[in-house]
Amino acid sequence: MALLCLFHPHLGQGILPRLKERLPEETLRVWPDVRARDDLEAALIWRVVPGLFEGTERLSFVSATGAGVDHLLCEPSLPKEVPVTRVTDHEFAAMMSDFAIGWIIHIHRDFSHYLARQKERQWQPLPIRPASSCRVGVMGQGMMGASLAARLHAQEFSVAGWARRPQTSCPWPVYAGASELGDFLARSDILVNLLPLTIQTAGILNASTFARLPRGAALIQLGRGAHLDERALLEAYDAGHLRHAVIDALNVEPLLREHPFWTRPNIIVTPHVGAQAPADAVARVFAENLQRSRGGAPLVNLVNRTAGY
Ligand code: GLV
Repeated sequence: MALLCLFHPHLGQGILPRLKERLPEETLRVWPDVRARDDLEAALIWRVVPGLFEGTERLSFVSATGAGVDHLLCEPSLPKEVPVTRVTDHEFAAMMSDFAIGWIIHIHRDFSHYLARQKERQWQPLPIRPASSCRVGVMGQGMMGASLAARLHAQEFSVAGWARRPQTSCPWPVYAGASELGDFLARSDILVNLLPLTIQTAGILNASTFARLPRGAALIQLGRGAHLDERALLEAYDAGHLRHAVIDALNVEPLLREHPFWTRPNIIVTPHVGAQAPADAVARVFAENLQRSRGGAPLVNLVNRTAGY
């Protein structure tokens, strides 16, 4: 039996040596060098390629190398009964929080303004506002969203979360479900998307969502490209309703050179670098699940395939 590995072309290289350390006896078959598939026992996948699981009748589980599993769940060649797992890890969530907080402070403290004024040799101070005056709304209260909200709360931002179900244990308010989305958006000067991509959340960053944000609000898009209606974002930005956007996840990656996002001064595009699951965490979780799967124990970080995360 063998293990299939398909890594991120640029960022996934560190995982293979860690896997070899943890699983020295195993046969690792690294994409695209995969001839036979009928003896594959498990798979560790960055992004699925169409038909990847055809002919894999003996798969006992498939793991994403990151947090999102939407690409796996919509792959028709993955049999419905095969368990899917993902990586959750403290450092991984912390990286995403650092990235989001960097941009939140960039927006809140007007860094774009100062970068632009420097080019003109202009000394032009703007009012300095405390963190508590900045209302940040974090969509998604899973590993990533809750970690970000906790840090923002500790830094005295006025943070609120939005989740599918009510949550009572956090010290910041969490709005729940479609019925509370409007109130949540209305108090979000900076909206951060950390939702998983599911049937319910696809297209959630749309014209109606933007219209419910306060005028001059900002968007930080760290979810998946399919959350975002790109045309609606451009319209809201060009109309001056949104003042700023940071887009780290796009429908087509890399973003095409002619895409209008590149040329809008306060739309910042980053190449899907919000966070990367640490190689050691990826290898650790995968090796643990392999052992559990062989021993008939429940897998860790198991995805609810019906809920989609
Ligand atoms: C990155 O996109 C991930 O799913 O972790």
